[in-house]
Amino acid sequence: MQTVDNQYFHQYLPGVEVRLDSASLETYGRDWTHLRAPAPSAVLFPRNTSQVQEIILRARQDGFALVPSGGRTGLSGGAVAADGEWVISLEKMRSLGTVNPTEACIQVEAGVITATLQQAASAAGLFYGVDFASAGSSQVGGNIATNAGGIRVLRYGLTREQVLGMTAVTGAGEVLELNHALIKNATGYDLRHLLIGSEGTLAIITAATLKLWPRPPLRDVMLLAVPDDQAIMALFASARQAMNLSAFEFFSQACVEHVCAHAGLPAPLESPTAFYALLEFDQLDETGLTEWFEQAMEAGWISDGLISQSDEQAKQMWAYRERISESIAARKPYKNDIAVRVSAVPALLAELDELVQQQYPDFEVLWYGHIGDGNLHLNVLKPDEMDLNAFKAQCEQVNELVFAVVQKHSGSISAEHGVGLLKQPWLAYSRSEAEIALMRALKQQFDPDGILNPGKLL
Ligand code: MLT
Ligand code: ZN
Repeated sequence: MQTVDNQYFHQYLPGVEVRLDSASLETYGRDWTHLRAPAPSAVLFPRNTSQVQEIILRARQDGFALVPSGGRTGLSGGAVAADGEWVISLEKMRSLGTVNPTEACIQVEAGVITATLQQAASAAGLFYGVDFASAGSSQVGGNIATNAGGIRVLRYGLTREQVLGMTAVTGAGEVLELNHALIKNATGYDLRHLLIGSEGTLAIITAATLKLWPRPPLRDVMLLAVPDDQAIMALFASARQAMNLSAFEFFSQACVEHVCAHAGLPAPLESPTAFYALLEFDQLDETGLTEWFEQAMEAGWISDGLISQSDEQAKQMWAYRERISESIAARKPYKNDIAVRVSAVPALLAELDELVQQQYPDFEVLWYGHIGDGNLHLNVLKPDEMDLNAFKAQCEQVNELVFAVVQKHSGSISAEHGVGLLKQPWLAYSRSEAEIALMRALKQQFDPDGILNPGKLL
């Protein structure tokens, strides 16, 4: 392996912008996990697919590892570069095509920010279906590489469901044009879907054509007080029959307290409650909604509630859910992002709640998540006085027990945050030996020298 300095890049990758200063290495070498000290050897900013290809071919030749990098908002360490890798930032590849109204789609480069894409769709009278709290910083390429989910999966599906076509460069340096934005294409293996969720281990995604949806009708948001976790599922079953839901989220009282303290918000309802459900749905006639609300009260599934009277109020109600993550970030939470089939959620919640109370008697534990997708976020907060490494080690021990319960329900140890570095040791709780062997064989085909995001996922 050669030493890299400006002269090296000048000689071998003359058109590519490169930064070697310590501030850039520090910034681009980490993601939101702050998991390991960043230590890449260079940060490269390609401006097109050909430059990405040149970089990959050069890295292959000289034996450098590459870490593809988007908005670095990941929560599993998938974009961490801690071992002298070259970070390949896609942020200079931000071209946004025009919306194609006939096909309801748009072509974008990988570095386009999610919120920019949402705004472009909306300006054309259409809608991009994926949304989450980090939409202002996350990038399309990263969303595809991690198959990002978020708050409206219930109605629009994951990022996977939005990708009609894709350009990517494999670890071998081959440029792939996948599916050409076709709706129907029955010509064998759909490699596009193999790259979605592959966390930059098979190829670097450089552009995509994404599906857009009709603009949603007027929607309301409802925040409901739910007395216990078992009532939540009954409430969800009933709500999904009575209304056209676009989101059904839940969170505990402790989450609300953190958000209120962090964001200076008032308590959402008159009295505290064990859990809150946040529903977003196409507007219903008032009588229908009142009848449903009264039924839910009578059944004991809810004890209070609030319905948005304006867009502004709807936004404020969403803040109690969307700002949970940022409100606890300073407490260095140990995050679990698990999923089971929706019907298995009550059993999972009950079993994990008991386990968590036994195993973490001294830690503050927060529950929130996307009930409509069977996806729960279990966050354990580090006590201020405790050493970070000791805290992590204790949480990792408990992981074995948590994941054994998830496995028993045939669930996933990473629903939407990805495997990255953080969940890699536990992959076998969700994927069989045969599956992992096939994944490794695929990795070998796409990336024969193992230069793409080594140590992540597999
Ligand atoms: C969320 O649902 O808020 C996100 O997945 C982020 C998180 O889990 O903290
Ligand atoms: Zn989430």
